[in-house]
Amino acid sequence: MIDRLHQILGDKGLITDPQEMRPFLTDWRDRRQGNAVCVALPASVKEVSLTMKVAAEEGQPVFPLGGNTGLCYGAVPESPSPKDKPGIVISLQRMKQIREIDVAANIATVDAGVILAELHEKAKTHKRQFPLYLGSEGSAQIGGLISTNAGGTGVVKYGPMRDLVCGIEVVLADGRILSDLEGLKKNNTGYDLKHLFIGAEGTLGIVTGAALRLHPENTNDAHAWVSVDSPESAVRLFTEFQEKCGAYVEAFELLSGTEIDAVVRHIDRVHVPFDTVPEWSLMIELTSNDSSVDLNGVFEEILGENLENGSVLDAFIATNSQQAEQIWHVRHSVTEANKLEGMGMVHDVAVRVSKVPAFIAKAKEVTAEKFPMATPLLVNHLGDGNVHYILMFPHDYWKSLSDPDAVTHDVQTCVHDIAASFGGTFSAEHGVGRKLTDELKRLADPLRYELMKSVKQTFDPENRMNPGVLFE
Ligand code: LAC
Ligand code: ZN
Repeated sequence: MIDRLHQILGDKGLITDPQEMRPFLTDWRDRRQGNAVCVALPASVKEVSLTMKVAAEEGQPVFPLGGNTGLCYGAVPESPSPKDKPGIVISLQRMKQIREIDVAANIATVDAGVILAELHEKAKTHKRQFPLYLGSEGSAQIGGLISTNAGGTGVVKYGPMRDLVCGIEVVLADGRILSDLEGLKKNNTGYDLKHLFIGAEGTLGIVTGAALRLHPENTNDAHAWVSVDSPESAVRLFTEFQEKCGAYVEAFELLSGTEIDAVVRHIDRVHVPFDTVPEWSLMIELTSNDSSVDLNGVFEEILGENLENGSVLDAFIATNSQQAEQIWHVRHSVTEANKLEGMGMVHDVAVRVSKVPAFIAKAKEVTAEKFPMATPLLVNHLGDGNVHYILMFPHDYWKSLSDPDAVTHDVQTCVHDIAASFGGTFSAEHGVGRKLTDELKRLADPLRYELMKSVKQTFDPENRMNPGVLFE
């Protein structure tokens, strides 16, 4: 098999040396490691297709890999059971072409290996933006972002990846290429299959290309860091912003003081524009492509009134782009900081925005009692109800545990049950991966779970596509 793959991929396209393979087998936080016969690095859709044909003929499992920035181990090539053989990791990192920018249609057609930040830059040169914004944008690849239906801070205005993909190209388990990159806005010809691959985490095929929706570049933006006394006040303020200037609200993030303390401790160049770190911080961005709107004026009006009536404790409005970057540098550094801070149990629940305060209060009450050693760090995409409830355990304490997996399991079950009691989901934007397969089975509607399994069976009857992800 290696000889056949070598013929297709050449020296540059195949790694078999265990040492060289290692970075492709381990998640970026170094928590889990998989195994593989080889790492394939195809340079074209055709090479992906030929590689998949070989894998099919050899009965090999295939593990697709994007930028490896995931948090649910969806890209760690672990076979589900020890008796399964290791398979082929397929990294898309050499497929980096931005194939076309169509400004009239507002579509970028790209290879799956394009890095998000590169697409941001390219779109700008056409006075456009690709509005998916997240901390890992310097490494995350389009294929992985599609496969996990990634979210981030712009979802409140532009939606998650699912709303930004208008066409897709996928190589199926048997090597056939399913391609629809026209990106038509209107096309009612039966099932829209692209949506099955968005969020499928590589279990149905390998995304090799996509047609993505561009938006006009924002020529006007304003940024504020606001101190509030509680999540309730934060939701009240969000509601007011929606009512008064909803079309401008691009990001509405709520962070606990404990999280900002961690960023201050571990990350360079951090500036907090208040004397002390607020107990609750809102980071708000307003944007428009109409330069005549006075967005700082909008902030001054709304925040001014709320400072007077006591709903807002303090507010900082950025007056230049450097100050704006300083705010978002803090926000986007949370995951890096948490990696250094301790053993963080990250949760990715979502409830309705209106229920966020009650969820947070309940989760804090229950986890304080059950896990007193852990500090809750909260990072919330408040505008879309997504709560990263992170329980941070000190490294030393974590190392002293005899059964850390059992504690992880208890923590997870506890937080997810509370989310479920508020009608919420246990995975808003990070996916299921290999981390949450039992939670999917436990918490998904049984009929939905059964139908999902039949979709899997249709596309991947031999269970060779990223086995162990989504389903146990
Ligand atoms: C964030 C990651 C954890 O929002 O999703 O920073
Ligand atoms: Zn997030």
